[in-house]
Amino acid sequence: MADRQTDAKALRTFDRMAKVYDGLTAFWSNGRVSRCKLAQLEHIGPGDKVLYVGVGTGEEAVEAVRKGADVTCLDLASEMIEIVRSRLAKNALEARLIHGDMFDHHESYDVVCANFFLDCFDPDGMRRAAEHLIGLVRPGGRFLVSDVTTPQGSLPARWFTAAHHSVAFAVSRLQGLTPWYPVYDYPSVFEASGLEIVEREFFALWNGGPVVYQALAARKPL
Ligand SMILES: C[S@@+](CC[C@H](N)C(=O)[O-])C[C@H]1O[C@@H](n2cnc3c(N)ncnc32)[C@H](O)[C@@H]1O
Repeated sequence: MADRQTDAKALRTFDRMAKVYDGLTAFWSNGRVSRCKLAQLEHIGPGDKVLYVGVGTGEEAVEAVRKGADVTCLDLASEMIEIVRSRLAKNALEARLIHGDMFDHHESYDVVCANFFLDCFDPDGMRRAAEHLIGLVRPGGRFLVSDVTTPQGSLPARWFTAAHHSVAFAVSRLQGLTPWYPVYDYPSVFEASGLEIVEREFFALWNGGPVVYQALAARKPL
């Protein structure tokens, strides 16, 4: 996904992967991807108008609906949207589902969530995508991002994190999903766009192990 539009090969792969996506990420992350995404729910309240962009299979979006948020789920892959639809139906919950490109979406939200999404773009594409999404957050609203983190802690821990990400990125690259890119320093990107980081929570691959994921909550000034 080098540029504005996700390319057709990447899109086909996301569609093909939709049914196995949760199992693969749970295995690779030892369940931490899910924990990291669910942690951001503390920044979402009843009545909040929330956008999940590149929602994927939507586990955390369904939980936001359960909390009483007014949720919109947007994804370019129709198979991902269908999984969110059936997840909602199974739980007798409702959300607005949009099959489309987030660059064509221009509504304002209290909260915009972009989980494991910005790292699908090359550096220029990532900055454009972040800028567009931050533009959708109303003044005083929140931008929530759960994603991989730059390595933290001791040298062996940082080495492990870098190696863990490299394997995931290499597989993703071979699948045609992402260009080869560095691990982004999201706090710096968001602060450069005028956001204030209000919380940064790290997630280790196992208890006491190296940190690999982060849940970031940023606020747009009034
Ligand atoms: C790596 S997955 C992340 C899915 C989910 N947010 C998660 O945390 O597991 C990226 C998702 O973004 C979607 N996507 C990619 N480019 C998009 C775009 N331009 N607009 C909307 N969705 C897009 C893909 O179809 C895919 O479902």
